[in-house]
Amino acid sequence: MRIAVLGTGIMGAPMARNLAAAGHEVRAWNRTASKAEGLGATVCAEPSDAADGAEVVITMLADGPTVASVMDGVTLSDGAVWWQASTVGVEWAAKLGDAYVDGPVMGTRKPAEDGKLTVLASGPGRERLGDVFAPVAGKVVDLGDAVGAGQRMKLVGNSWVLSLVEGLAETIALAERLDVDPRDFLKMIEGGLMDTPYARLKGEPMIAREFPPSFPLALAAKDAGLIAEAAPDLPLPKLIRDQMLRATDAGHGEEDVAATFMAVWREHS
Ligand SMILES: NC(=O)c1ccc[n+]([C@@H]2O[C@H](COP(=O)([O-])OP(=O)(O)OC[C@H]3O[C@@H](n4cnc5c(N)ncnc54)[C@H](OP(=O)(O)O)[C@@H]3O)[C@@H](O)[C@H]2O)c1
Repeated sequence: MRIAVLGTGIMGAPMARNLAAAGHEVRAWNRTASKAEGLGATVCAEPSDAADGAEVVITMLADGPTVASVMDGVTLSDGAVWWQASTVGVEWAAKLGDAYVDGPVMGTRKPAEDGKLTVLASGPGRERLGDVFAPVAGKVVDLGDAVGAGQRMKLVGNSWVLSLVEGLAETIALAERLDVDPRDFLKMIEGGLMDTPYARLKGEPMIAREFPPSFPLALAAKDAGLIAEAAPDLPLPKLIRDQMLRATDAGHGEEDVAATFMAVWREHS
């Protein structure tokens, strides 16, 4: 199939690469064009060039306003399907219309590289995307015909993930303040009901204070904000958003979400 990928950042680049490797004709556009090179895709100067004649257009961009402004210049070909994969939240899902596949993804850099994302697919046209999902997804969750269902499930999933990361940051900070080696904490929970692979995945970078980006902190803060907007009575999303913004303001926004730790870290003597 001829597929346009608009946005080749951490997630969009491996998706484009896997689609091209599966034999699709991929045309890629990215604001910073160099990130669209070397993926096996034709690099296009404008979103409209990439989308011209495409049977499927994929957006994998930072947020709702970015998706809207990029798609503003795009005219879909007759019969083309738009797969909107970015996390935009409930309000932006509605603002983008009702005639597209609302299919945000769970999974981060590594699952994207391995073609093992979970797609949360809702909206019209998703039944035609089997050959597009196959090289990028390990699992497709069908959430029905209404646009917005994908984003709602995505916010629920990210509420869980972001709570884990923020709770882990405070747990490791507490351990350090109490002179408990945080690696001993990770060993203590290992293999038990309280354990989760995520504790080691995000805990080790916190302990090492090294945060190579897999899920950029600024985008995690955006997602916590979307959750807070969707459920303003819940206290935790706002707290998480504010902590993540604090670490973003301190210069960690392009680092991994684990860098939210820097908002609670204190030099310990
Ligand atoms: N990373 C994860 O673990 C993960 C997991 C699931 C879902 N997501 C979601 O997937 C989407 C992409 O995330 P990512 O991790 O790939 O982030 P990323 O590497 O930061 O990529 C963001 C993309 O948006 C583009 N962009 C940002 N602002 C723009 C603007 N004003 N105009 C045009 N393009 C703009 C960037 O272009 P440049 O390259 O020019 O900056 C890049 O292509 C986000 O909605 C994110 O929440 C991420």
